[in-house]
Amino acid sequence: MVDGGARPRVFVARIIPDVGLEAVRADCDMDLWEDELPPPRAELLRRVAGCDGVLTLLTDKVDDEFLDAAGPQLKVVSNYAVGFDNIDVAACARRGIPVGNTPGVLTDTTADLAFALLMAAARRLPEGDRFVRAGSWKTWGPLLLLGPDVHGATIGIVGFGRIGQAMARRAQGFGMEVLYHDVNELPAEVTDPLGATYLPLEALLARSDFVSLHVNLSPLTRHLINAQTLAWMKPTAVLVNTSRGPVVDQVALAAALRDGTIWAAALDVTDPEPIPMDDPLVGLDNCLIVPHIASASRATRDKMAQMAAANLLAGVRGEALPTEVPPPA
Ligand code: DGY
Repeated sequence: MVDGGARPRVFVARIIPDVGLEAVRADCDMDLWEDELPPPRAELLRRVAGCDGVLTLLTDKVDDEFLDAAGPQLKVVSNYAVGFDNIDVAACARRGIPVGNTPGVLTDTTADLAFALLMAAARRLPEGDRFVRAGSWKTWGPLLLLGPDVHGATIGIVGFGRIGQAMARRAQGFGMEVLYHDVNELPAEVTDPLGATYLPLEALLARSDFVSLHVNLSPLTRHLINAQTLAWMKPTAVLVNTSRGPVVDQVALAAALRDGTIWAAALDVTDPEPIPMDDPLVGLDNCLIVPHIASASRATRDKMAQMAAANLLAGVRGEALPTEVPPPA
């Protein structure tokens, strides 16, 4: 209950797994956006007006305009994602509104997908599948769909937080040499068990057979992978991105894949999302693209729903959020 005993009013911006919706419905007057597509901006601003709490997705932009539209009674923004680049956390902090996210529960599921993309691009699974379905499979071919070995190769992990480290654990299982880059070198008690060696970005890109991106999107990481940094990579290298689309300059990536600067890419995230069908990357056989599904296992999406609901409910009650995005210093 909020002040005066009324049930809190909340807006939930998409259908999330039942376990989260049921928890919210039990304690709140819930307005649920039920379409497959996100609410259009004008509708979003209309629906959040007067709410005590909002449960948003990475497709909903939360900025001053959103917060003005919601009104001064808004007590919490709970994002159904670990990433929060859709939210102006500083603007929320200025108004004393905590922001919740869903860290931890999607670490392994996301690393699973990143490794699956790495394997699929290296061993050309989508191309092989298309080849068979097109009726092109005539015989066993000594030179058919060749790719690099994954086992024993060198992986460069850019961004060595929870998900980057989970990627390292998977790479260890394949006997890979693990290099990492982050803003700071991590303590040996973190990196030693993972057999991970720190390198500056240029050296890491130059040495890696596979490069996997696990950074947050920020002004520092926008277009971190660009024409210059792609040129540092090996012509045989595979780039995997499960972080955020804008970390990669897609125009530069398309050129690099076309002219052989690098060998292949596998993307779970693009800029924009969905990627337009006339984007040059869509036409490239050496670019594998899936629709931002890294956390899409049933169990993980349930856990994210529970966490997002718990943050929302704590916020409308004026309690500390179980997982709050730290406000900027
Ligand atoms: C996140 O949580 O930030 C992912 O991109 C979606 O699960």
